[in-house]
This record gives sequence, structure tokens and C-alpha cells, in this order.
Amino acid sequence: MIYPIVKYGQKVLEISAEPVTVFDGDLAKLVADMFETMYAASGVGLAAPQIGIGKRLCVIDITSGQDPQSKLALVNPIIVGTEGKVAQDEGCLSLPDFRASTTRPARVTVRAQDLHGEEFTMMGEGLLARAFCHETDHLNGTLFIQHLSRLKRDSIKRKIKRLMKAGEW
Ligand code: NI
Repeated sequence: MIYPIVKYGQKVLEISAEPVTVFDGDLAKLVADMFETMYAASGVGLAAPQIGIGKRLCVIDITSGQDPQSKLALVNPIIVGTEGKVAQDEGCLSLPDFRASTTRPARVTVRAQDLHGEEFTMMGEGLLARAFCHETDHLNGTLFIQHLSRLKRDSIKRKIKRLMKAGEW
């Protein structure tokens, strides 16, 4: 099932999500739906709050569905280590058509649980490191625009307000 994606302005995107405590068939179904939703939107990551579900859960596939091996579901993820810094253009399915150079760690180690509740640790570089940060941020109610300068952020917010007023958001 493809969910509609919640856009900036909805409260669920700006509050901390609740931990996942039940690892059952419903969780597996939700993750499958999140992958489907993410691929339909041509995204490389999607967090549960982006479909209106305030749970600490996200899916990532930096190949956008090209390589089944790179499908990652992170349940209750936490960033446990970071190294370096790199600025690159970043966007978000909840802020369609807005991209901005965003500084993130170059290497990121994340600890999470899988669909069965098993804990695992994984290191990512480049786009994967960026996705770990971006999606974990979502679970803490943080959007990538929080990492931009106030000037840049306010400019994006102003444009969104205009789109909202015009009924185009
Ligand atoms: Ni996002």
C-alpha cells in the first residue's frame, strides 16, 4: 500500500517519535508499505512520521530500488559514531522541490534493530551516512532545513508559506 507523504507543516514531522516495541507481522507489513511508498516517490529514505506514523522506524535504499541488497529497515536507530564532515545537496520527500547544501558527517555508525528486534550496528559513508542522519533526524522531529543557516531556512519557509496560501502545498 502506498501512503500519502506528509508535508512540512504537519506536527507529526516536528515531534519525537515513539520507540517500536512490538516486532510482529504488522511491523513487517508497515515496512513493506514504507518501501513501496518510498520507491513510488523516487526517494532514497523514508521515516514513519512522513506517513503520519509517530514510530521510530525508517527505510533506506540509496540505490532507489536498483539493488535489492541495499534495502535497509532501521527500527529504533541511534547514531553511535560520526567522523568527518561533508556538504552536499540534500532534499526531503516532505519538502518537495527544495534542496540545499547541507553539512553532514562523512562516516556514520548507526545502531538499530531489525524487523525481528535483533540489534545490529552498521557503518555508512557518503550518501548512506547522510541517509542515516537525515532519517534518524526525522524520528527526533528534526528536518534537514534545521541544519541550514537561518537565512536559507527562513527563505525556504517563506516560499512554502506562499505555496500554502496558494493551495499548492
Ligand atoms: Ni526527509
